[in-house]
Amino acid sequence: MVLSTQSSAADLAAVFPSRLRYRWPQPLKGQKNAIWYGADYNPEQWGPDVWKEDVRLMKKAGVNIVTLAVFSWARLEPYEGQWDFGWLDQVINLLGSNGIAVDLATSTATVPQWLALAHPDILPLDRDGKTFWPGARQHWRPTSPTYRHYEIELVRHLAEHYRTNPYIVSWHIGNEFGCHNLYDYSEDANRAFQQWCRARYGTVEALNRAWGTDFWSQRLTSFDQILVPRWVNGYQNPGRQLDFVRFSSDAEIACERAEAAVLSEVTPNIPFTTNFMVSGGSGTGIDYDKFGTSVNFISNDHYFMPGKDHFDELAYSAALVDGMARKMPWLLMEHSTSAVNWRGINYRMRPGEMERDSFAHLAFGADGILYFQWRQSQAGAEKYHSAMVPHAGENSHIYRDVCQQGHDLQTAADAGILSSRVKKSDIAIIFDNESAWALHQETSPSQKLAQFSEPMNWFRALADDGVTADVVPLHGPWNEYKAVVIPNVYLMDQAFADQLRDFVRAGGMAFVTYMSGIADRNDRIYLGGYPGAVRDVTGVRFEEFNPLGDTPGMDSSLEVVPADPAIPHASAYDFADPISDMADSVTVLARYSASADSGMNGVPAMTSNPYGKGQCIYVGCRLSHQDLAAQILPVLTDRGIDASAERGSVLRVVREGEKGRYVFLFNRTDGEVSAQATGTLILSSRCTLGSRDESGTCTLQFQSAGFALMRQETQNSDSESE
Ligand code: GLA
Repeated sequence: MVLSTQSSAADLAAVFPSRLRYRWPQPLKGQKNAIWYGADYNPEQWGPDVWKEDVRLMKKAGVNIVTLAVFSWARLEPYEGQWDFGWLDQVINLLGSNGIAVDLATSTATVPQWLALAHPDILPLDRDGKTFWPGARQHWRPTSPTYRHYEIELVRHLAEHYRTNPYIVSWHIGNEFGCHNLYDYSEDANRAFQQWCRARYGTVEALNRAWGTDFWSQRLTSFDQILVPRWVNGYQNPGRQLDFVRFSSDAEIACERAEAAVLSEVTPNIPFTTNFMVSGGSGTGIDYDKFGTSVNFISNDHYFMPGKDHFDELAYSAALVDGMARKMPWLLMEHSTSAVNWRGINYRMRPGEMERDSFAHLAFGADGILYFQWRQSQAGAEKYHSAMVPHAGENSHIYRDVCQQGHDLQTAADAGILSSRVKKSDIAIIFDNESAWALHQETSPSQKLAQFSEPMNWFRALADDGVTADVVPLHGPWNEYKAVVIPNVYLMDQAFADQLRDFVRAGGMAFVTYMSGIADRNDRIYLGGYPGAVRDVTGVRFEEFNPLGDTPGMDSSLEVVPADPAIPHASAYDFADPISDMADSVTVLARYSASADSGMNGVPAMTSNPYGKGQCIYVGCRLSHQDLAAQILPVLTDRGIDASAERGSVLRVVREGEKGRYVFLFNRTDGEVSAQATGTLILSSRCTLGSRDESGTCTLQFQSAGFALMRQETQNSDSESE
């Protein structure tokens, strides 16, 4: 892939670029490989005396890396073209000479005030034409040529200034691209969107077809008639809307690439990354799997979701990042030691959660654990956000926990964890951003459709059955697994459908859910009955959708009755396909029991179709993860996937490597649970180890947020049980 400072969103249209070479930040000279441990560090908020104290506290806590200069542009270039690196040199030397490596940010996330005032054309506009004024951060248009000019100037100056600095182990490009400026409706965006459409479609005719512009007289006769979807007095054209989201994602990636091109040229030996915001709890407008092709290693920011689902959400997100990283080490660039500042109610973390969260990310492949931020700010919008050193200072439970964690990460590293990678699961759950974007449109059959939550629902259901699934992006190697889940993969091209057919024919098992294979990648519906792209492999057909809702007189849920009386009944909600035809080969696994006048009584809810050497299960409705777990358990067991509902309260994540097998066990519940395991206990938190039986199996007793890490010799790995 060619990185260019001229990279534009149009360059990224219609291409899924090949991946950059994987490179991981190497330890400082004379130091051995360690799990990276640290935080964003904002020394410009403090004076030199505090810097010295910071270094003392960092060393005491085992911190070995900090991210510097994320929001430092105004300090580095206080006036146009006047550079001040003195303070940063001093900080980097202080850190580096004390053995603390630097992940240096390019500082492009927030433009200085002088730049915004001198060039107001860089300020984004919202869909109503309102300006994003300075006063917060990221108030620049991703497509602005003016911004690009100053952005590149800054990055070049930084790279040239630090090209030989021995303490910089990685570049941190920008910060959370698209967090505040993803959708821009300015003239720059409009021009860039036109170029993007031209690159994607080639001819206006192709675009007209893709967007279905003969509907409502929206036909275009040239690319320069294209408009970004500004406010309209009705429903947006869904094709344009979907492409605008794709374009906006590409525009952010193009900014990162423009910076990466400078860094690759000036500092070819320093790997670069940027921090993603992958989270299972919400959808995202950025195609992070595509973004992952433009960095040397993946980094993610993840913030805890208060409440009892937090751990599952974290585990799912981390598994998805592992999928995006293609099982290579990735960095947890930010999480919190306790409360954040940006929710309505900013709950603090409960005992044990901070360390448990870090080790959960480590279990799923994060070989570096960093926080936002090192020292809690005294002023500014994030002064109530927790940090490794809180307002209370060194004498605080958070700092003590931070020190304990530094020690525990060292213990894990000494046990050889860095030589291992996350073990491949038997089952992959596909995640598809574009389907999520298409389903979130305002004119879908039900506003309750949410592709981003259905893969997580399956992850949880499988966890309930004692299976830790891999989450694999659509363009990842999902067809190399024993079984695959295709949850709400609504946009499906023929190439994917063919791959799926080949996969099942060759003996694979596929679970396909409602709202999958309905439209092609341009959101044009397949005709002849749903699910048009996969009617043959699923063996089912239906002619209408049947959303469920709470309107009086309508069904809000439907009882699902399995054919096997040993399986408990379930309750379908939000969506239940009225399957009307089935291939002769299909077996019905469960049917709805409903009133006669609903038209759903006896309709198949879950079916199984043998196809080639494999099997395709169709799940035509939304089920809670608990219900889903009970329905799929026998199917998993039949296919030789090691599943057991008894194991569901503890999530097991395995990393494997030349020095052994590392089994992480996490309490998924908010009560006390126990589990059995073999191997040597490396470390644990809120967990007690009972005695062993003659086979070497021991019982672990977990409190809430408890976890344990065991190591097994590789030759014994198969005898491990729980
Ligand atoms: C994001 C940003 C940080 C900080 C944290 C607060 O992750 O990257 O600069 O604002 O949120 O949670």
